[in-house]
Amino acid sequence: MNDRSLVSIEDISKSDILELLHRARYFEAHPDSKLLDGRVVATLFFEPSTRTRLSFETAVNRLGGRVIGFSDASTSSASKGETLKDTIKMVSNYADLIVMRHFLEGAARYATEITDTPIVNAGDGANQHPSQTMLDLYSILKTQGRLEDLTITMVGDLKYGRTVHSLLMAMRYFRPRFRFVSAPELRMPQEYLDFCRQNGIEYSEHVDFSREVIDQSDIIYMTRVQRERFSDPMEYEKVKNLYSLKLDMLSGSKDNLRILHPLPRVNEIAQDVDDSPKAYYFEQARNGVFARQAIITRALGIELPQS
Ligand code: CP
Repeated sequence: MNDRSLVSIEDISKSDILELLHRARYFEAHPDSKLLDGRVVATLFFEPSTRTRLSFETAVNRLGGRVIGFSDASTSSASKGETLKDTIKMVSNYADLIVMRHFLEGAARYATEITDTPIVNAGDGANQHPSQTMLDLYSILKTQGRLEDLTITMVGDLKYGRTVHSLLMAMRYFRPRFRFVSAPELRMPQEYLDFCRQNGIEYSEHVDFSREVIDQSDIIYMTRVQRERFSDPMEYEKVKNLYSLKLDMLSGSKDNLRILHPLPRVNEIAQDVDDSPKAYYFEQARNGVFARQAIITRALGIELPQS
């Protein structure tokens, strides 16, 4: 296992997070730094993606490296029955870094046990999405000017949404107040509520996405109901449209409120919110390139030029 891998946000310290944010800020100012000359990065996506894969690949290209990989596992030899173990062993022969998304929770951790090539987890089932968390933290820092003492309201699919699980854990260093808004079937799992209690993090749970909750928030983090994680389609139908943020719901909100969403959205945010200055989800996705440049260079042990 390579200790530069990024598998779970739980594994990294506050100083690691601050270093990655410092790097992201550097890359936003210097997006075309050619620090990856001669390096090859593999992107192995066993599940669909638009933002994560393309922003990782943009990050590598802007850094002057090369990308190999697949965006559809049906075009790889996994479709012929090749195991994940063999796939990772093989790709380690070709690449200096492996970015992988897999439908199985724990797949990225497993990959680190197979190879010394650093692994970046680009999402493993409903478990973790740590590179998304780094761009979320960067977005929060940019919009709020700080990470400490913020009220963050997470809305929607808190059960299967891996982005909220990773963000919750990362915020343990920054004294957040969480408001969890979800249907009872999609509550934040008990292990994350226990994590909050163990780390002295204030939280409350709500079924109603009320004006009171909205008006207290510094960040509203909307999430999509993860249809692909439901074994019963009828259960998905019951909850898919429960929460939708509309422009008029923001009339009493704080000036500094920003609305985040890892995207893709379905119906969780009405189109009329897009033009609000409080909507930040498209800029958030753009920040993904800088955050991923930070993650890649750190995973490869590349120092930033002295500035
Ligand atoms: N936020 C995110 O993970 O988006 P994609 O599924 O498009 O990569």
